[in-house]
Amino acid sequence: VIGTGLIGGTLLSQLQARIEELKRHRGIDFRVRGIMNTRKMVLADRHLNLERWRDELSASSKTADLESFINHVNAAHLPHAVLIDATGSAELTGHYESWLSTGINIITPNKKSNAGPFAAYRSLREAARKHQRYFLYETNVGAGLPIIQTLRGLIDTGDEIIKIEGVLSGTLSYIFNSMDGRRGFSEVVREAHSLGLTEPDPREDLSGVDVARKLIILAREMGLEKEMEAVRVESMVAEDLRAATVDEYLNTLGKHDQKITALLSSARDNGQVLRYVGAIDSNGDMSARIRSYPLDHAFASLTGSDNIVSFQTARYNSQPMIVRGPGAGPEVTAGGVFADLLRLASFLGAPQ
Ligand SMILES: NC(=O)c1ccc[n+]([C@@H]2O[C@H](COP(=O)([O-])OP(=O)(O)OC[C@H]3O[C@@H](n4cnc5c(N)ncnc54)[C@H](OP(=O)(O)O)[C@@H]3O)[C@@H](O)[C@H]2O)c1
Repeated sequence: VIGTGLIGGTLLSQLQARIEELKRHRGIDFRVRGIMNTRKMVLADRHLNLERWRDELSASSKTADLESFINHVNAAHLPHAVLIDATGSAELTGHYESWLSTGINIITPNKKSNAGPFAAYRSLREAARKHQRYFLYETNVGAGLPIIQTLRGLIDTGDEIIKIEGVLSGTLSYIFNSMDGRRGFSEVVREAHSLGLTEPDPREDLSGVDVARKLIILAREMGLEKEMEAVRVESMVAEDLRAATVDEYLNTLGKHDQKITALLSSARDNGQVLRYVGAIDSNGDMSARIRSYPLDHAFASLTGSDNIVSFQTARYNSQPMIVRGPGAGPEVTAGGVFADLLRLASFLGAPQ
């Protein structure tokens, strides 16, 4: 496991709670043999004690070294190796292809690989196929919600995608669900930031880039050869605040409240609410933007940091298939990564 932050740390706790049970009742013998963050790593020949991994990592004298970590994970005496990249690092994703080619399976919530240049995306899949290894990333879209698997199931069984649209960012969901007209946009953004619901720099969420990345990942699952530039993105970061520090940004954000307040009051006058929605159609037309919805629309009833994704297809035409629920947070995201790990075990022949 690389990355011991919110997701990596929670995954290790979830594994600790289930690992014996899975061995006894499912015959799956998972062994965590290495844990690494940007500073340190801890390695074990058999398996690490997951009750004490934090203490062992902080007491470890081994500084983080990717090459020796990978060599250790890919031990010749064990039947299978999997690397869980629980970071947001673009540096690590650059190594995926070589890890697959040396025999390591990869599971990740990190979107940077799948949303990168299309040539690298294709090459990674060719490497996985050629070396018969798995690359699993269900949590790239909707965290623990079954979005990518659902889309694949529809496509592989011959359904035809007409349109996918939804609220794909937990952060933007929270911000728009909390704007009730009494508080300005900036106040809600500052609250979301202080609750730890945004990226450390909230502009990463408010620029719409995170939603654009998710749209590209869905487009590519649909077989469309698209690059990020193809997404029409409405940014909520004013031009003059793009270069400011995070503190400057949060302190001066209020001067741009007017635009969103005007949109909100016009929506409310028409009995509607605002949502930040990503959409993609069968031709690959993609947009990420603020839209208004009547109160009886499925998107209007969201609460907290819920995600919602609507799949309109030939089979689910007049009544689209809807997947909805919390789309961010450590427990649900780590649970989704864990489910990918169990899926991998099944692919590799674990008993049912
Ligand atoms: N949080 C969510 O709700 C959520 C939902 C869906 C997907 N995700 C994705 O899950 C991933 C992890 O998110 P998070 O919230 O757990 O992030 P986080 O709390 O910031 O943790 C990131 C971890 O990655 C480590 N790291 C970063 N770059 C590294 C590198 N080059 N080599 C080794 N370790 C490295 C960091 O090490 P240090 O501890 O040394 O800094 C830290 O332990 C991200 O890709 C995120 O987009 C998160």
